[in-house]
Amino acid sequence: MKSLLIVYHSQSGTCARLAMAAREGAVAEEGVQVQVLRAWDAGTRDLVAADGVVLVAAENSGALCGAMKDFLDRTFYPAIEHGVVIPYALLVSAGNDGRNAVRQAQRILSGYPLVAAAEPLILRGEFSQDHGAAARELGQALAAGLAMGIF
Ligand SMILES: Cc1cc2nc3c(=O)[nH]c(=O)nc-3n(C[C@H](O)[C@H](O)[C@H](O)COP(=O)(O)O)c2cc1C
Repeated sequence: MKSLLIVYHSQSGTCARLAMAAREGAVAEEGVQVQVLRAWDAGTRDLVAADGVVLVAAENSGALCGAMKDFLDRTFYPAIEHGVVIPYALLVSAGNDGRNAVRQAQRILSGYPLVAAAEPLILRGEFSQDHGAAARELGQALAAGLAMGIF
């Protein structure tokens, strides 16, 4: 059984809905158990126990939202120490941009042993059916890759 961790932070509920949509896609894959945690509640232990991780966060004030930054700051050195070499996917929700949040996350993540399994996905504007579908697809793709041992 493979384990997929979905870590999210959400102020208005948009990222929470995207995280749940990613979960919906991931649980459709057999052989993968999925855990969804708020960034404030997630830590190194959760990363160490996971075979893959989806990060769902907003761009706030031209940067990665603080709670996701906090999660990455808290787990950075422990993840290196534990050799957490697992695939990750990044999903950024933004009003009309999102590029700086992606840039910042990628810069931080380039120092992790985590390995990008997909291109970062930016979803702009309020939650929509299309956004839900895109998040579901991302969750399912990562879960399928884990189940098939592709990563
Ligand atoms: C304080 C604040 C700052 C924001 N800054 C940006 C920004 O710099 N660029 C952008 O595209 N959207 C920005 N937004 C919009 C959010 O990224 C967008 O509403 C997102 O869906 C919020 O998701 P969440 O409420 O689930 O965290 C900002 C929203 C807030 C509340």
